[in-house]
Order: sequence, then structure tokens, then C-alpha cells
Amino acid sequence: MTALHQVRQLLLLAALTLLCVPTDSGPDLDVRATNSDLDFRATGLPYTISITPHAATSSGLAGSEPAAATESSGHTGSDAQVPHWYHSHDTIAPADGDSARLRFTAEVQQDIWRHQNPPTCEGQRYMETPHHGFGLGSILNRASGMLGFAMNKGVIMLYHEKLGAPNFLGSYCAGVLNPACIFMPPSNCTAYARNPRNNVTVEKNYLDHSYPMPVVPDKWVQRWAETDMSSSGMVNLQYWWRAQAAGYFTRLNARTSQELITRRMRSAASGAAPLPLPPNTISVHVRHGDKRSEMKLASWNAHLARADRLAHKQGFSERFIYLSTDDPKVVHAAHMPLRDPLYSVFSLPCPELMDGLGVLPCRTNITSANPGLDVAEHGAHAGEIALFAVESLLLALEATHFVGQRGSSWARLIDELRMVVVGSSKSCCLPYGNVSCDLPVSLRPLPERETCQDGSPVDTHHPDQCQCPEDAEEFSR
Ligand SMILES: *[C@@H]1O[C@H](CO)[C@@H](O)[C@H](O)[C@H]1NC(C)=O
Ligand SMILES: *[C@@H]1O[C@H](CO)[C@@H](O)[C@H](O)[C@H]1NC(C)=O
Ligand SMILES: *[C@@H]1O[C@H](CO)[C@@H](O)[C@H](O)[C@H]1NC(C)=O
Ligand SMILES: *[C@@H]1O[C@H](CO)[C@@H](O)[C@H](O)[C@H]1NC(C)=O
Repeated sequence: MTALHQVRQLLLLAALTLLCVPTDSGPDLDVRATNSDLDFRATGLPYTISITPHAATSSGLAGSEPAAATESSGHTGSDAQVPHWYHSHDTIAPADGDSARLRFTAEVQQDIWRHQNPPTCEGQRYMETPHHGFGLGSILNRASGMLGFAMNKGVIMLYHEKLGAPNFLGSYCAGVLNPACIFMPPSNCTAYARNPRNNVTVEKNYLDHSYPMPVVPDKWVQRWAETDMSSSGMVNLQYWWRAQAAGYFTRLNARTSQELITRRMRSAASGAAPLPLPPNTISVHVRHGDKRSEMKLASWNAHLARADRLAHKQGFSERFIYLSTDDPKVVHAAHMPLRDPLYSVFSLPCPELMDGLGVLPCRTNITSANPGLDVAEHGAHAGEIALFAVESLLLALEATHFVGQRGSSWARLIDELRMVVVGSSKSCCLPYGNVSCDLPVSLRPLPERETCQDGSPVDTHHPDQCQCPEDAEEFSR
């Protein structure tokens, strides 16, 4: 544990460094809507770091971090840069080129933006998602179905005010009990529709339009039918649609953007994760914990072996891994001295609690509850754990190769966003490094939705899970 202590001390030092750097006025982080439909801002890459007075004020809500976080430099001076997805944008930033994102990304993002952000909020119809308490990854994946349904009906989708509430308890979210605690609301009419003075009736729809497969806008069902998508890099239309919706839903709000930029500078300064990550870094996500009730979990060694195969195939001379996981034992194992000195593994230590009273329980070995729901503490730090998970997610997207079990919603979210948000041909759209229990049955290519590879029938009562014999390979602890 001495290593952890060292890391903590480095983090503290880094935080102090950040607070001592003078303020510099830069471009406004809190980019607001303009009248143009899909205004890909000309900020270009790479971005420089700056925090606006607006963002600084809103961070006061966190009730913790001094709001004075300013232009920060970590160890790399004023050239320090974070990738565009750390910034708050109405729409995703421009890509390197056509092959840097999934097919049709620019067009479908424009469709979503237009549908959800009309010129006027008056006279529109609104429909909210159902209210459920799954984990954050599952919520974002499922909201895609309601968005598709709403687009087909010509109504604007809103989050239920308590969508995923257990993930957002505690001081960081300060009573915003839906994903808008962290991300932008799905429509710029949210405040209008929720203001009682405007007498808007928000329609309710209790059907989960995402289970087992999301409803996809009719236009895109049609377009896919008309287009040869065999070289699209996508398993199917539903996976593509979830990826597009996830890209839209995960645009950071201004306050979270500021917080995560500050944290990224700290993780760089402490050496926990260099900025940028070394070339050819492999992002490995290991989902354990309560997920064992839905799929066969693969060990850290199984993930490492998969990353090694991938590195070997690509001819990497060194092995850099960025590890994200909910299992503290995996972090421990990953940082044990490895036999192979070629390996460097980076992962984030759990951050200090925002109230300063210890360390966030950001990972857990309790196997009956989602770690994000912070059941042990009745959700006291759930919002902070969600924030940490997103911090880890944004970092994972800085890698260029991806390994994990896509039976996990969170692993899928990483896979989706690297193909939709990042906009670099280096990370989009090489095949995913799948470990056993890859895609849940419902998301597999058609023939495999009815039969497993050994010919046995799949369990159609649980199409969102992996239950074929091949899903169990490599399972070991
Ligand atoms: C929402 O965005 C649209 C499109 O950019 C814009 O025309 C409209 O004025 C915005 N509405 C609000 C309330 O900000
Ligand atoms: C509010 O809307 C409802 C139905 O849309 C309508 O019956 C009612 O008269 C409205 N109330 C006011 C104060 O406008
Ligand atoms: C789980 O973690 C706690 C706290 O770190 C530890 O005391 C306990 O032994 C762990 N349980 C298992 C089964 O590893
Ligand atoms: C996942 O990997 C296994 C081999 O490791 C392979 O047999 C399987 O087809 C892969 N699944 C997908 C969907 O790529």
C-alpha cells in the first residue's frame, strides 16, 4: 500500500501545483447553442485548457474543490492539452476524416441535435424516459431506445427527473437525480418543459423501448437497408444506434467538464496516466462485482492474455495498458511486478472524497450490488463514484486499442464512444479485443441470435445476457 500512499502524495502535490498557476482567460468552456444546426466549432485540435468564470461559479455546487481551479499546467507547462471530449460541446467535435468515425456519424448526430433542440420550445410535445435504477452504463444504453421511439413519434425526449437516481445521490449531484448531473440534458428545452409556468404536459411512457433491442429511428432503419454496411465495422444497426445515442447523451455539462479537466491534469502530473497516453496504449476494462449474476466474468489474467495477443499481432515493441475496473483486486494484481518488463499498466487511484474525509470507495469487492450505487454507504457518495467512472471512461477513450467483455454495458459504452466521439482513425474502427462473453445474445449478428456456436439454442428469456458455452471460455479467477 506504500505505492498508493506515494500516489496520493503526488496527487496532493499536483493539486497544489494546479491551484498556484495564474488564471488565463481562454475560450469559454460553456459553449451554448447557436442557431446553426450542427455547428462543429472551429476550435480545432488540440485544445488548450481554460476555465471560465461561469464554470468556476457552478463548481461551487460540488461543495468541495476550491472553485479557483484555473488554467492548469501539470508538468507540461501551458501547452498541456486534453482531448476535445473533456470539453462541454453541443455536438461532437470534427473528426480526422471520414474513416475516423462510424459511418453516417455526422449526419445522424445532426438529426438527433435538430430533433431534440428545436428553434422554439413552445408548442412541442415532450415524452420522458421510464424511471429505473439500473447502473449508469445501462441507463445510457437503454435511453437510446426511448430516443429512437421519440424521434419516430415526433416528440422530444427528456430524462425522467429520477432516471437512474441511485447513481446520483450525494453532494456532487446536489439533488439532480438523473444523468444531467454529469452530462448535458438531452434537449435544450428541458428547463422550458419542466417549468410549471409553461404548463407543459410531459408524456409518460413506461415501456422500455430498448429491451432487448433499441427502437431505431425509421429513417435509419431504411438507410441501413439501402446501404451495404458489411464494411462498416458494426455488428448491427442496433449497436450502431446505441453508439450514436451514447455519443449524444455523454456530452459533458460545463461543471463536469471543468472538474474532469482538472482531474486529468492531476492524473498526468502524478504519473498515474501520462497525457497523452503513450502510442498504442491498450484500454482494458475489467467488469466484475455484481455482473457475475449476468455473465461469466473473466479474470485479470484472461484480459491480460487477450491484450498480449493483440499487441503481438500488431507488432508492438512495448506494452502500455490503461486499466479501468470496478474490482480493487484487479488493480492490485495489475500493479504487481510483472514477469514481462515490457509492460506498463496505468490506472487511476480512487480520489479523495470531496468532503475531505478519506478516500472515495470507487471500487468494491461486494459482489451483490453495483459498485456505482454505493450501497454500503446508502449512496452517500454515489454521485462522486459516477463522476470517477466517467473520469475513467474519458481516459479509456485516449487509448487506441480496446479489450474487455462487451457483455458489460460499461465495456460497450467505451467501445461505442471510441467509434463515435473520438474521431481518430487510430481508435476507430479496429476490431474490438473481445474476451469471453462478448456480446449479449440480442446484440449478436443475426444467425447467432438463435443458436450458439456449438449449435445449442440460446435462452431467449435472457437475450441481454451471454449464455452460450463459448461465453464461458477463459473463465478463471
Ligand atoms: C436550442 O437549440 C436550437 C438549435 O440550435 C436553437 O435554435 C434554440 O434557440 C435553442 N433553444 C434554447 C431554449 O436554447
Ligand atoms: C394547462 O394545460 C392543460 C392541458 O394541456 C389545459 O387544460 C389547462 O387549461 C392549461 N392551464 C393553463 C393555466 O393554461
Ligand atoms: C473486501 O474489501 C474489504 C475492504 O478493503 C476487505 O476488508 C475484505 O477482506 C475484502 N473481501 C474479500 C472477500 O476480499
Ligand atoms: C470473440 O472472440 C472469440 C475468440 O477469442 C471469437 O471466437 C468470437 O467470434 C469473438 N466474437 C466476436 C463477436 O467477435
